Amino acid sequence: MKHLLISALSALVIGASTLVNPAVAAEGGHIEDISFSFEGPFGTFDQQQLRRGFQVYREVCSACHGLRYVAFRTLADQGGPMMDPAWVRAYAAEFTVMDKETGEERPGKETDHFPFISGMGMGPDLSLMAKARAGFHGPYGLGINQFFRGIGGPEYIHAVLTGFTGEEKEEAGSIFYENHAFPGGWIAMPPPLSEDLIEYEDGTPATVDQMARDVSAFLMWTAEPKLESRKRWGFVAVMMLIVLSTLLYLTNKKLWAPHKGKQFDL
Ligand code: HEC
Repeated sequence: MKHLLISALSALVIGASTLVNPAVAAEGGHIEDISFSFEGPFGTFDQQQLRRGFQVYREVCSACHGLRYVAFRTLADQGGPMMDPAWVRAYAAEFTVMDKETGEERPGKETDHFPFISGMGMGPDLSLMAKARAGFHGPYGLGINQFFRGIGGPEYIHAVLTGFTGEEKEEAGSIFYENHAFPGGWIAMPPPLSEDLIEYEDGTPATVDQMARDVSAFLMWTAEPKLESRKRWGFVAVMMLIVLSTLLYLTNKKLWAPHKGKQFDL
């Protein structure tokens, strides 16, 4: 029992000491840690932030990046940006989609997905980007960093969006922009954000940092729309396990008590 306590304590101390270091450098460059509302075991998405982030995606990023795994209707879901269902229907209808059954083009419906965008100068699909990139490379196996701060996917996106230096170069007919966060230091994406590029519907000042945070949070939601219920059920499961383990421990004790020569009064 004493040994167990000591090892549990030292695991905690090691875990805590890795937490002190606020920014762990990824291979691409410096990734600043951000306290997003959805981090930690009880974190939830901030609906206002998701709405702002969606606005940034809609007005800026969607010109070059698709969201092929995201269905329009999920924009109205609980735990997401919770856009008005009628608005979502009208928004979906602005897209032209190829009907899988008839093979003909028709206006989008809320059950359709955002388009997949590809071609010259277009960027990768952003649906899962927040989970595909890790900003932090904490100690493997321990997982305490990840538990409290996530793997840093949204932080990575924020860092790329705010990491431009203003330098550019031409190479093999393409233009590359210097970026602190992008691995290799040069990215083919022109800096997409600038101060007051958009006007937020909720009146929040549209600084580059704010827009980068909001769209990163939105992309975390597209990558993991069920994050909240996963956390809720995870918590319930852990509670059940604790109760069951306690019961098992007590039952075990009671069962074996007569054979141990001592009588426990349970
Ligand atoms: C003018 C087109 C354009 C716009 C607008 C644009 N991007 Fe990009 N983006 C690109 C291209 C091209 C790449 C691929 C860059 C490369 O691989 O060098 C890219 C790459 C990325 C990456 C990937 C980095 C990686 O690790 O692979 C992220 C994240 C990203 N863009 C986010 C955004 C967000 C968020 C917005 C909106 C605020 C946005 N982009 C707007 C063209 C664009």
